[in-house]
Amino acid sequence: MTNEILKLMAERRSIRRFKPDAIPREITENLIEAARWAPSAGNLQPWYFYVVVREDRRRCLANAALNQDFLAEAPVCIVVCTEAGRSEAHYGERGRNLYCLQDTAAATQNILVLATAYGLGTCWVGAFDQSKLKSCMGLPEAHRPVALIALGYPAVEPQSRPSRHSLEEIREYI
Ligand SMILES: Cc1cc2nc3c(=O)[nH]c(=O)nc-3n(C[C@H](O)[C@H](O)[C@H](O)COP(=O)(O)O)c2cc1C
Repeated sequence: MTNEILKLMAERRSIRRFKPDAIPREITENLIEAARWAPSAGNLQPWYFYVVVREDRRRCLANAALNQDFLAEAPVCIVVCTEAGRSEAHYGERGRNLYCLQDTAAATQNILVLATAYGLGTCWVGAFDQSKLKSCMGLPEAHRPVALIALGYPAVEPQSRPSRHSLEEIREYI
């Protein structure tokens, strides 16, 4: 089991070409369920997820994301939002600038890993114009979008794995 999870994490690759096939609602529900179980500072869970299925809205995401067109090609995109004000109310500046971002990053990674287990391709997209995205999606003021996830069945076999720093380079037991 432990090795299977590690294998899944190592198998996950950013996918930027998708088949048009729809993703069953049960799967997207489980992906958000996975996000729900992520840890968060003080268990505040300062997150909100928009599961974007409408073509015109996915197009708006792609435009706001500096014309990363694969966001419109993917049958589903998830907009991961944080409610930074709630973290700030509890933890001040550290809550607003650190914890709420870490919380939503943990939730995002949970989604990516479970999606991989379903045979879905994903790409975490961070490059977007926040105010453009907020206005074209009509997001409430309190919801700050922090990550977009393109989601769909891969139309391509990923190319060779992007390299990672070796264990020796990144860890030290002290
Ligand atoms: C915070 C963050 C922002 C990212 N933003 C983008 C993006 O805007 N567009 C994109 O194509 N990939 C984006 N990526 C995906 C990375 O390029 C990718 O994870 C990295 O190259 C490693 O490849 P892998 O995911 O296949 O292991 C982002 C990843 C993270 C974690």
